Amino acid sequence: MNSRPVVLVTGANSGIGLACAEAIARKGYRVYATYRNPRKAGHLWRLSRSLPLFPLLMDVNRTPSVQKAVSQILKKEKRVDALINNAGFVMAGFWEDLSDKDVRDQFETNVFGLLRVSRAVLPFMRKQGSGKILNIGSVAGFAALPGLGAYSATKFAVNSITEALRMETRPWGIDVTEINPGEIQTSVVQNARLGERVKSPQSPYTPFTKYFENFSKERFEKAAPVEKLVGVVLKALEDRPMKRRYLVKLDDYFTYYLRWLLPDALWEWGLGIMFPWSRFPR
Ligand SMILES: NC(=O)c1ccc[n+]([C@@H]2O[C@H](COP(=O)([O-])OP(=O)(O)OC[C@H]3O[C@@H](n4cnc5c(N)ncnc54)[C@H](OP(=O)(O)O)[C@@H]3O)[C@@H](O)[C@H]2O)c1
Repeated sequence: MNSRPVVLVTGANSGIGLACAEAIARKGYRVYATYRNPRKAGHLWRLSRSLPLFPLLMDVNRTPSVQKAVSQILKKEKRVDALINNAGFVMAGFWEDLSDKDVRDQFETNVFGLLRVSRAVLPFMRKQGSGKILNIGSVAGFAALPGLGAYSATKFAVNSITEALRMETRPWGIDVTEINPGEIQTSVVQNARLGERVKSPQSPYTPFTKYFENFSKERFEKAAPVEKLVGVVLKALEDRPMKRRYLVKLDDYFTYYLRWLLPDALWEWGLGIMFPWSRFPR
């Protein structure tokens, strides 16, 4: 058995997952970098030639796929030291433009997927008496925005899952945290899905959707490089114990503390300046 810690990263074929998997492997950890589409895993296989990085198929939406991947890791390594729950996507659209299926799909990956993989590794972490779970949340997990309600709801869920799970697993020496990034330079916007009725000419929200598209385009032009987030993940992996939450950029700290400090009415007033159409008509 190799003594290097074993880390499982979900959704590792692109963006944050890929950058984390590569950086963690460069630190000498043995990284199981999971992907769900073999056609998108080329870069992972190339990295696997020079690093302790092992690409593995896993669709977090499918229990058999999750179980198969975890049992492959355990068969080879006999342990799993850390799990990075990163797989996720954005379902964009105003609530009325989202169907039940849109909302279910969003929860299936961002919430049930995270729980599915966590439940698959937890029995082994309990047995070994140690382990770390790092959930990739979002600033949207403590400050919801119009047009991103479903995504925010899943990240709020990740926030409360983390809060409870941390306490539940401590008796076994298992540490759980959450990383809450704001905008990071990845293809998350290009990979976002639109709710069923978002582009319908009948949607009453079309002007707000256009406003929101421009707003998020501008925000992502100022997004932080992925390396910034990778540094935070590496720190969390080494912290003993991990903090309840890790923020990434200065403006993420600003949003977090402002949301916490301001009464709801003042917070909404501020958002009303950002989204003038979100106020009551005069
Ligand atoms: N970028 C940001 O600004 C930002 C900010 C806050 C939080 N986040 C969070 O960070 C995480 C990673 O996002 P990203 O920015 O790196 O975007 P990304 O490049 O689109 O990466 C998302 C990854 O998740 C994978 N994925 C999606 N559904 C999956 C499923 N059912 N099973 C397995 N893998 C699945 C994708 O695989 P495919 O390539 O096969 O689709 C992809 O590898 C997400 O949880 C996101 O919510 C991102």
